Amino acid sequence: MKKSRISVIGMGFVGLSLAVVNAHANFEIIGVESNKEKLANLRRGKTDFYEPNLSKYLNESLKKNKISFTENLDEVKNTDITFITVGTPSTKDGKIDLSSLKKVISGLYKVLKNKQAKHLVVIKSTVVPTTTSTVIAPMLKKLKNVSIAVNPEFLREGSALNDLIHPHLIVIGCVDDKNCKVLETYYKQFYKTMPDIINTDYTTAEMIKYANNAFLATKISFINSIANICQKLPLVDVNTIARAIGKDPRIGSQFLQAGPGFGGSCLPKDLSALIKFTDKFHDLNSFFKAVENVNQLQTSQVIQMLKSMKLFDSKKIIAVLGLAFKKDTDDLREAVSIKLVKNLLKKRLNINVHDPMAIENFKKIFGDKVSYYTKITDCIKNAHCCIILTEWDDYKKLNPSILKKNMKELNIIDARRILDPSKFKEFNFKAIGLGPR
Ligand code: UDX
Repeated sequence: MKKSRISVIGMGFVGLSLAVVNAHANFEIIGVESNKEKLANLRRGKTDFYEPNLSKYLNESLKKNKISFTENLDEVKNTDITFITVGTPSTKDGKIDLSSLKKVISGLYKVLKNKQAKHLVVIKSTVVPTTTSTVIAPMLKKLKNVSIAVNPEFLREGSALNDLIHPHLIVIGCVDDKNCKVLETYYKQFYKTMPDIINTDYTTAEMIKYANNAFLATKISFINSIANICQKLPLVDVNTIARAIGKDPRIGSQFLQAGPGFGGSCLPKDLSALIKFTDKFHDLNSFFKAVENVNQLQTSQVIQMLKSMKLFDSKKIIAVLGLAFKKDTDDLREAVSIKLVKNLLKKRLNINVHDPMAIENFKKIFGDKVSYYTKITDCIKNAHCCIILTEWDDYKKLNPSILKKNMKELNIIDARRILDPSKFKEFNFKAIGLGPR
Protein backbone atom coordinates (compact mmCIF):
# COMPACT_ATOMS: atom_id res chain seq x y z
CA MET A 1 0.00 0.00 0.00
CA LYS A 2 1.25 3.49 -0.88
CA LYS A 3 2.55 5.34 2.17
CA SER A 4 0.55 8.39 3.31
CA ARG A 5 2.24 11.68 2.45
CA ILE A 6 2.61 13.73 5.62
CA SER A 7 2.93 17.41 6.42
CA VAL A 8 3.52 18.81 9.88
CA ILE A 9 2.80 22.46 10.71
CA GLY A 10 4.87 23.99 13.51
CA MET A 11 8.44 22.81 14.02
CA GLY A 12 8.54 23.09 17.82
CA PHE A 13 9.39 20.25 20.17
CA VAL A 14 6.41 18.04 19.23
CA GLY A 15 6.25 18.92 15.51
CA LEU A 16 9.93 18.49 14.76
CA SER A 17 10.16 15.26 16.75
CA LEU A 18 7.13 13.91 14.87
CA ALA A 19 8.45 15.01 11.47
CA VAL A 20 11.90 13.55 12.06
CA VAL A 21 10.63 10.21 13.40
CA ASN A 22 8.38 9.83 10.34
CA ALA A 23 11.16 10.74 7.92
CA HIS A 24 13.38 8.23 9.69
CA ALA A 25 10.66 5.62 9.08
CA ASN A 26 10.85 6.47 5.36
CA PHE A 27 7.72 8.61 5.06
CA GLU A 28 7.99 11.69 2.81
CA ILE A 29 7.69 14.65 5.19
CA ILE A 30 7.11 18.34 4.67
CA GLY A 31 7.73 20.46 7.76
CA VAL A 32 6.06 23.87 7.71
CA GLU A 33 7.60 26.63 9.83
CA SER A 34 6.96 30.37 9.70
CA ASN A 35 10.03 31.48 11.67
CA LYS A 36 12.64 32.25 8.99
CA GLU A 37 15.69 31.78 11.21
CA LYS A 38 14.44 28.44 12.47
CA LEU A 39 13.62 27.38 8.94
CA ALA A 40 17.11 28.23 7.65
CA ASN A 41 18.67 26.31 10.54
CA LEU A 42 16.48 23.25 10.00
CA ARG A 43 17.39 23.14 6.32
CA ARG A 44 21.03 23.03 7.42
CA GLY A 45 20.25 20.25 9.91
CA LYS A 46 20.43 22.49 12.99
CA THR A 47 17.82 22.28 15.74
CA ASP A 48 17.18 25.05 18.28
CA PHE A 49 16.67 22.71 21.24
CA TYR A 50 18.27 19.51 22.48
CA GLU A 51 16.50 16.17 22.26
CA PRO A 52 18.37 12.84 22.18
CA ASN A 53 18.89 11.56 18.58
CA LEU A 54 16.90 14.42 17.05
CA SER A 55 19.83 16.04 15.31
CA LYS A 56 21.19 12.68 14.12
CA TYR A 57 17.87 11.54 12.63
CA LEU A 58 17.27 14.98 11.10
CA ASN A 59 20.59 15.02 9.30
CA GLU A 60 20.21 11.44 8.07
CA SER A 61 16.70 12.24 6.73
CA LEU A 62 17.91 15.43 5.02
CA LYS A 63 20.62 13.43 3.27
CA LYS A 64 18.08 10.86 2.06
CA ASN A 65 15.72 13.64 0.92
CA LYS A 66 12.97 12.25 3.13
CA ILE A 67 12.30 15.58 4.83
CA SER A 68 12.01 19.13 3.53
CA PHE A 69 11.12 22.37 5.25
CA THR A 70 9.05 25.24 3.94
CA GLU A 71 7.25 28.37 5.09
CA ASN A 72 4.75 28.01 2.27
CA LEU A 73 1.52 26.49 3.54
CA ASP A 74 0.54 25.80 -0.08
CA GLU A 75 2.83 22.75 -0.14
CA VAL A 76 0.50 21.00 2.27
CA LYS A 77 -1.76 20.38 -0.74
CA ASN A 78 0.65 17.73 -1.98
CA THR A 79 0.21 15.61 1.15
CA ASP A 80 -2.64 13.44 2.45
CA ILE A 81 -2.44 14.13 6.16
CA THR A 82 -1.48 17.34 7.95
CA PHE A 83 -0.52 17.21 11.61
CA ILE A 84 -0.91 20.56 13.35
CA THR A 85 1.59 20.98 16.15
CA VAL A 86 1.70 24.73 16.70
CA GLY A 87 2.07 25.96 20.28
CA THR A 88 -0.96 26.69 22.44
CA PRO A 89 0.79 28.71 25.16
CA SER A 90 -0.77 30.29 28.23
CA THR A 91 -1.96 33.87 28.20
CA LYS A 92 -0.84 36.06 31.15
CA ASP A 93 -3.87 34.94 33.17
CA GLY A 94 -3.23 31.22 32.50
CA LYS A 95 -5.85 30.69 29.76
CA ILE A 96 -5.00 28.88 26.54
CA ASP A 97 -3.89 31.09 23.64
CA LEU A 98 -5.33 29.73 20.40
CA SER A 99 -4.16 32.55 18.13
CA SER A 100 -1.42 30.57 16.29
CA LEU A 101 -3.73 27.62 15.84
CA LYS A 102 -6.55 29.77 14.42
CA LYS A 103 -4.11 31.44 12.05
CA VAL A 104 -2.96 28.06 10.75
CA ILE A 105 -6.53 26.80 10.32
CA SER A 106 -7.58 29.84 8.33
CA GLY A 107 -4.43 29.47 6.19
CA LEU A 108 -5.26 25.79 5.65
CA TYR A 109 -8.78 26.71 4.61
CA LYS A 110 -7.43 28.92 1.81
CA VAL A 111 -5.02 26.21 0.65
CA LEU A 112 -7.33 23.20 0.87
CA LYS A 113 -10.30 24.83 -0.83
CA ASN A 114 -8.30 24.47 -4.04
CA LYS A 115 -7.72 20.78 -3.52
CA GLN A 116 -10.09 18.12 -4.88
CA ALA A 117 -8.69 15.03 -3.20
CA LYS A 118 -9.44 14.09 0.39
CA HIS A 119 -7.29 15.60 3.12
CA LEU A 120 -7.11 14.81 6.83
CA VAL A 121 -6.25 17.58 9.30
CA VAL A 122 -4.97 16.17 12.58
CA ILE A 123 -4.98 18.33 15.70
CA LYS A 124 -1.95 17.36 17.79
CA SER A 125 -1.63 20.72 19.56
CA THR A 126 -3.09 20.51 23.06
CA VAL A 127 -6.44 22.32 23.06
CA VAL A 128 -9.04 22.68 25.81
CA PRO A 129 -12.14 20.50 25.46
CA THR A 130 -14.66 21.64 22.80
CA THR A 131 -12.05 23.68 20.85
CA THR A 132 -12.19 21.36 17.85
CA SER A 133 -15.97 21.15 17.67
CA THR A 134 -16.67 24.83 18.38
CA VAL A 135 -13.66 26.63 16.87
CA ILE A 136 -11.73 24.46 14.41
CA ALA A 137 -14.45 22.37 12.73
CA PRO A 138 -16.66 25.41 11.97
CA MET A 139 -13.68 27.13 10.28
CA LEU A 140 -13.23 24.18 7.89
CA LYS A 141 -16.91 23.20 7.58
CA LYS A 142 -17.33 24.33 3.97
CA LEU A 143 -14.56 22.03 2.73
CA LYS A 144 -16.26 18.73 1.93
CA ASN A 145 -12.94 17.05 1.04
CA VAL A 146 -11.44 17.85 4.44
CA SER A 147 -11.93 15.84 7.62
CA ILE A 148 -10.54 16.42 11.09
CA ALA A 149 -9.13 14.16 13.79
CA VAL A 150 -7.96 15.00 17.31
CA ASN A 151 -4.86 12.99 18.12
CA PRO A 152 -3.14 14.15 21.34
CA GLU A 153 0.47 13.26 22.09
CA PHE A 154 2.03 12.19 25.38
CA LEU A 155 5.69 12.91 24.63
CA ARG A 156 8.18 13.59 27.37
CA GLU A 157 11.10 15.89 26.75
CA GLY A 158 14.31 13.90 26.77
CA SER A 159 12.59 10.79 25.38
CA ALA A 160 10.34 12.28 22.70
CA LEU A 161 11.57 10.14 19.79
CA ASN A 162 11.38 6.97 21.80
CA ASP A 163 7.88 7.89 23.04
CA LEU A 164 6.78 8.38 19.43
CA ILE A 165 8.24 5.06 18.36
CA HIS A 166 6.83 3.20 21.39
CA PRO A 167 3.66 5.03 22.51
CA HIS A 168 1.61 3.50 25.32
CA LEU A 169 -1.57 4.52 23.50
CA ILE A 170 -2.97 6.24 20.43
CA VAL A 171 -6.08 8.34 20.92
CA ILE A 172 -8.11 9.26 17.84
CA GLY A 173 -11.04 11.64 18.18
CA CYS A 174 -13.31 11.89 15.12
CA VAL A 175 -16.91 12.60 14.19
CA ASP A 176 -17.24 9.55 11.98
CA ASP A 177 -15.48 6.21 11.77
CA LYS A 178 -14.26 6.78 8.21
CA ASN A 179 -11.95 9.61 9.29
CA CYS A 180 -10.64 7.58 12.21
CA LYS A 181 -9.77 4.83 9.71
CA VAL A 182 -7.61 7.17 7.56
CA LEU A 183 -5.46 7.95 10.57
CA GLU A 184 -5.47 4.35 11.72
CA THR A 185 -4.27 3.26 8.27
CA TYR A 186 -1.34 5.67 8.52
CA TYR A 187 -0.47 4.34 11.98
CA LYS A 188 -0.63 0.77 10.63
CA GLN A 189 1.92 1.81 8.01
CA PHE A 190 4.12 3.30 10.72
CA TYR A 191 4.01 0.62 13.41
CA LYS A 192 4.96 -3.01 12.90
CA THR A 193 3.03 -3.88 16.05
CA MET A 194 0.06 -1.61 16.54
CA PRO A 195 -0.14 0.13 19.92
CA ASP A 196 -3.49 0.20 21.75
CA ILE A 197 -5.95 2.59 20.12
CA ILE A 198 -8.88 4.42 21.67
CA ASN A 199 -11.34 5.78 19.12
CA THR A 200 -13.60 8.47 20.44
CA ASP A 201 -15.12 11.89 19.69
CA TYR A 202 -13.24 15.21 19.47
CA THR A 203 -14.02 16.50 22.94
CA THR A 204 -13.27 13.26 24.78
CA ALA A 205 -9.92 13.07 22.97
CA GLU A 206 -9.14 16.64 24.05
CA MET A 207 -10.18 15.89 27.64
CA ILE A 208 -8.03 12.72 27.74
CA LYS A 209 -4.91 14.84 27.25
CA TYR A 210 -5.82 17.18 30.13
CA ALA A 211 -6.86 14.31 32.41
CA ASN A 212 -3.55 12.58 31.67
CA ASN A 213 -1.38 15.57 32.49
CA ALA A 214 -3.53 16.63 35.45
CA PHE A 215 -3.16 13.15 36.92
CA LEU A 216 0.62 13.21 36.52
CA ALA A 217 0.68 16.63 38.17
CA THR A 218 -1.55 15.25 40.94
CA LYS A 219 0.83 12.40 41.69
CA ILE A 220 3.72 14.83 42.05
CA SER A 221 1.83 17.31 44.22
CA PHE A 222 0.55 14.39 46.29
CA ILE A 223 4.02 13.00 47.00
CA ASN A 224 5.37 16.50 47.62
CA SER A 225 2.62 17.06 50.19
CA ILE A 226 3.58 13.81 51.91
CA ALA A 227 7.26 14.84 51.64
CA ASN A 228 6.63 18.15 53.37
CA ILE A 229 5.04 16.32 56.32
CA CYS A 230 7.88 13.76 56.39
CA GLN A 231 10.35 16.62 56.81
CA LYS A 232 8.78 17.38 60.20
CA LEU A 233 8.91 13.77 61.46
CA PRO A 234 12.15 12.40 62.95
CA LEU A 235 13.85 9.67 60.87
CA VAL A 236 11.06 9.55 58.29
CA ASP A 237 12.02 9.50 54.61
CA VAL A 238 9.51 10.08 51.81
CA ASN A 239 11.54 7.90 49.44
CA THR A 240 10.82 4.81 51.55
CA ILE A 241 7.16 5.75 51.63
CA ALA A 242 7.05 6.26 47.84
CA ARG A 243 8.76 2.91 47.33
CA ALA A 244 6.23 1.21 49.57
CA ILE A 245 3.05 2.73 48.19
CA GLY A 246 4.38 2.36 44.64
CA LYS A 247 4.27 -1.42 45.11
CA ASP A 248 0.49 -1.22 45.34
CA PRO A 249 -0.56 -1.86 41.73
CA ARG A 250 -3.51 0.48 42.22
CA ILE A 251 -1.02 3.32 42.82
CA GLY A 252 2.03 2.41 40.69
CA SER A 253 5.62 3.44 41.28
CA GLN A 254 6.08 6.16 38.66
CA PHE A 255 5.78 9.90 39.28
CA LEU A 256 6.25 9.55 43.01
CA GLN A 257 9.61 11.26 43.17
CA ALA A 258 9.39 14.12 45.66
CA GLY A 259 11.20 17.28 44.67
CA PRO A 260 11.09 21.04 44.29
CA GLY A 261 7.89 20.95 42.20
CA PHE A 262 7.09 20.15 38.59
CA GLY A 263 8.06 22.43 35.71
CA GLY A 264 8.38 22.16 31.95
CA SER A 265 6.33 23.21 28.98
CA CYS A 266 3.31 20.97 29.63
CA LEU A 267 2.24 20.08 33.16
CA PRO A 268 2.07 23.65 34.55
CA LYS A 269 0.53 25.06 31.34
CA ASP A 270 -2.07 22.34 30.90
CA LEU A 271 -3.07 22.34 34.56
CA SER A 272 -3.53 26.09 34.48
CA ALA A 273 -5.51 25.94 31.21
CA LEU A 274 -7.76 23.22 32.66
CA ILE A 275 -8.42 25.37 35.73
CA LYS A 276 -9.22 28.47 33.66
CA PHE A 277 -11.40 26.49 31.27
CA THR A 278 -13.39 24.88 34.10
CA ASP A 279 -13.80 28.10 36.11
CA LYS A 280 -17.15 28.47 34.37
CA PHE A 281 -18.30 25.27 36.10
CA HIS A 282 -17.78 27.03 39.47
CA ASP A 283 -16.49 24.71 42.21
CA LEU A 284 -15.81 21.71 39.99
CA ASN A 285 -12.10 22.52 39.71
CA SER A 286 -11.12 23.00 43.35
CA PHE A 287 -9.12 19.75 43.27
CA PHE A 288 -6.93 20.98 40.37
CA LYS A 289 -6.46 24.34 42.07
CA ALA A 290 -5.11 22.51 45.12
CA VAL A 291 -2.68 20.51 42.95
CA GLU A 292 -1.44 23.75 41.37
CA ASN A 293 -1.23 25.51 44.71
CA VAL A 294 0.94 22.76 46.25
CA ASN A 295 3.27 23.05 43.27
CA GLN A 296 3.53 26.82 43.45
CA LEU A 297 4.45 26.64 47.13
CA GLN A 298 6.99 23.83 46.79
CA THR A 299 9.99 26.11 46.06
CA SER A 300 9.45 27.70 49.46
CA GLN A 301 10.54 24.40 51.07
CA VAL A 302 14.04 25.00 49.70
CA ILE A 303 13.97 28.63 50.82
CA GLN A 304 12.91 27.61 54.33
CA MET A 305 15.82 25.17 54.52
CA LEU A 306 18.27 27.94 53.58
CA LYS A 307 16.69 30.16 56.22
CA SER A 308 17.06 27.46 58.88
CA MET A 309 20.74 27.20 57.90
CA LYS A 310 21.04 30.94 58.66
CA LEU A 311 22.32 31.69 55.19
CA PHE A 312 20.37 34.85 54.38
CA ASP A 313 23.44 37.04 54.42
CA SER A 314 24.86 39.09 51.53
CA LYS A 315 28.33 37.62 52.12
CA LYS A 316 27.19 34.06 51.51
CA ILE A 317 27.67 32.17 48.27
CA ILE A 318 25.02 29.65 47.21
CA ALA A 319 25.90 27.11 44.52
CA VAL A 320 22.88 25.98 42.52
CA LEU A 321 23.50 22.70 40.72
CA GLY A 322 20.95 22.11 37.97
CA LEU A 323 18.86 24.70 36.15
CA ALA A 324 16.87 22.72 33.55
CA PHE A 325 13.34 21.68 34.61
CA LYS A 326 14.53 18.07 34.54
CA LYS A 327 17.65 16.22 33.42
CA ASP A 328 18.61 15.58 29.78
CA THR A 329 17.16 18.80 28.44
CA ASP A 330 18.25 22.43 28.11
CA ASP A 331 14.66 23.58 28.61
CA LEU A 332 14.02 26.20 31.29
CA ARG A 333 10.31 26.65 30.75
CA GLU A 334 8.64 26.87 34.19
CA ALA A 335 11.88 25.58 35.72
CA VAL A 336 12.01 25.90 39.51
CA SER A 337 15.53 27.30 39.16
CA ILE A 338 14.19 30.59 37.78
CA LYS A 339 11.80 31.16 40.66
CA LEU A 340 14.34 30.09 43.26
CA VAL A 341 17.25 32.17 41.93
CA LYS A 342 15.04 35.28 41.60
CA ASN A 343 14.05 34.82 45.22
CA LEU A 344 17.63 34.31 46.43
CA LEU A 345 18.84 37.36 44.52
CA LYS A 346 16.21 39.43 46.33
CA LYS A 347 17.80 38.22 49.56
CA ARG A 348 21.10 39.64 48.21
CA LEU A 349 22.82 36.25 48.18
CA ASN A 350 25.68 35.55 45.74
CA ILE A 351 24.64 32.86 43.31
CA ASN A 352 26.88 30.43 41.43
CA VAL A 353 25.14 28.20 38.91
CA HIS A 354 26.01 25.05 36.99
CA ASP A 355 24.08 22.94 34.48
CA PRO A 356 25.40 20.56 31.82
CA MET A 357 23.07 22.01 29.15
CA ALA A 358 20.94 24.94 30.24
CA ILE A 359 23.59 27.59 31.07
CA GLU A 360 23.17 29.53 27.81
CA ASN A 361 19.40 29.70 28.23
CA PHE A 362 19.81 30.79 31.87
CA LYS A 363 22.17 33.59 30.79
CA LYS A 364 19.38 34.99 28.59
CA ILE A 365 17.26 35.48 31.72
CA PHE A 366 19.78 36.40 34.41
CA GLY A 367 22.66 38.04 32.46
CA ASP A 368 25.44 39.04 34.85
CA LYS A 369 23.33 38.78 38.01
CA VAL A 370 24.72 35.31 38.76
CA SER A 371 28.07 33.56 38.16
CA TYR A 372 28.13 30.73 35.62
CA TYR A 373 30.37 27.67 35.82
CA THR A 374 30.99 24.83 33.42
CA LYS A 375 32.77 22.70 36.04
CA ILE A 376 30.95 21.51 39.15
CA THR A 377 34.03 21.92 41.35
CA ASP A 378 34.39 25.59 40.28
CA CYS A 379 30.74 26.22 41.01
CA ILE A 380 30.91 24.88 44.57
CA LYS A 381 34.28 26.51 45.37
CA ASN A 382 33.96 28.61 48.55
CA ALA A 383 30.21 28.12 48.58
CA HIS A 384 28.35 28.23 51.88
CA CYS A 385 25.66 25.93 50.58
CA CYS A 386 25.10 23.71 47.61
CA ILE A 387 21.54 23.13 46.34
CA ILE A 388 20.87 20.22 43.99
CA LEU A 389 17.92 21.34 41.90
CA THR A 390 17.99 19.02 38.85
CA GLU A 391 18.67 15.27 38.98
CA TRP A 392 21.54 15.24 36.44
CA ASP A 393 23.61 12.02 36.57
CA ASP A 394 26.82 14.03 37.17
CA TYR A 395 25.47 15.28 40.50
CA LYS A 396 24.71 11.73 41.65
CA LYS A 397 28.48 11.16 41.65
CA LEU A 398 29.13 14.00 44.12
CA ASN A 399 30.86 12.61 47.18
CA PRO A 400 31.71 14.15 50.57
CA SER A 401 35.41 14.56 49.78
CA ILE A 402 34.82 16.64 46.62
CA LEU A 403 32.44 18.88 48.55
CA LYS A 404 34.69 19.14 51.62
CA LYS A 405 37.69 20.04 49.47
CA ASN A 406 35.88 22.91 47.76
CA MET A 407 33.09 24.34 49.91
CA LYS A 408 33.49 26.97 52.60
CA GLU A 409 30.68 25.63 54.78
CA LEU A 410 29.28 22.11 54.60
CA ASN A 411 25.61 22.86 53.93
CA ILE A 412 23.75 20.79 51.35
CA ILE A 413 20.15 20.88 50.19
CA ASP A 414 19.24 17.88 48.08
CA ALA A 415 15.98 18.98 46.49
CA ARG A 416 15.95 15.96 44.16
CA ARG A 417 16.88 13.18 46.57
CA ILE A 418 19.80 11.89 44.53
CA LEU A 419 22.42 11.71 47.31
CA ASP A 420 22.59 9.09 50.05
CA PRO A 421 22.19 11.02 53.33
CA SER A 422 24.08 8.35 55.29
CA LYS A 423 27.28 9.33 53.43
CA PHE A 424 27.00 12.98 54.48
CA LYS A 425 26.94 12.65 58.27
CA GLU A 426 29.53 15.42 58.76
CA PHE A 427 27.39 17.81 56.72
CA ASN A 428 24.41 19.94 57.55
CA PHE A 429 22.39 17.87 55.08
CA LYS A 430 18.80 18.77 54.33
CA ALA A 431 16.58 17.20 51.71
CA ILE A 432 13.00 17.33 50.49
CA GLY A 433 10.96 14.76 52.39
CA LEU A 434 13.71 13.80 54.85
CA GLY A 435 12.88 14.12 58.54
CA PRO A 436 15.48 15.26 61.10
CA ARG A 437 18.19 12.62 61.79
C1 UDX B 1 5.08 15.81 30.53
C2 UDX B 1 4.30 14.51 30.42
O1 UDX B 1 5.04 13.49 31.09
C3 UDX B 1 4.05 14.14 28.96
O2 UDX B 1 3.26 12.96 28.89
C4 UDX B 1 3.33 15.28 28.27
O3 UDX B 1 3.11 15.00 26.90
C5 UDX B 1 4.14 16.56 28.40
O4 UDX B 1 4.39 16.83 29.80
P1 UDX B 1 7.63 16.54 30.32
O5 UDX B 1 7.18 17.94 30.55
O6 UDX B 1 8.63 16.29 29.26
O7 UDX B 1 6.37 15.59 29.99
O8 UDX B 1 8.30 16.05 31.68
P2 UDX B 1 8.00 14.98 32.82
O9 UDX B 1 9.01 13.92 32.74
O10 UDX B 1 6.60 14.58 32.86
O11 UDX B 1 8.33 15.88 34.11
C6 UDX B 1 7.58 17.06 34.38
C7 UDX B 1 8.06 17.69 35.67
O12 UDX B 1 7.70 16.89 36.80
C8 UDX B 1 9.59 17.86 35.77
O13 UDX B 1 9.89 19.10 36.37
C9 UDX B 1 10.02 16.71 36.66
O14 UDX B 1 11.21 16.97 37.35
C10 UDX B 1 8.83 16.64 37.62
N1 UDX B 1 8.66 15.32 38.24
C11 UDX B 1 8.37 14.24 37.46
C12 UDX B 1 8.75 15.20 39.63
O15 UDX B 1 9.00 16.18 40.34
N2 UDX B 1 8.55 13.96 40.19
C13 UDX B 1 8.26 12.86 39.45
O16 UDX B 1 8.08 11.78 40.04
C14 UDX B 1 8.17 13.00 38.04
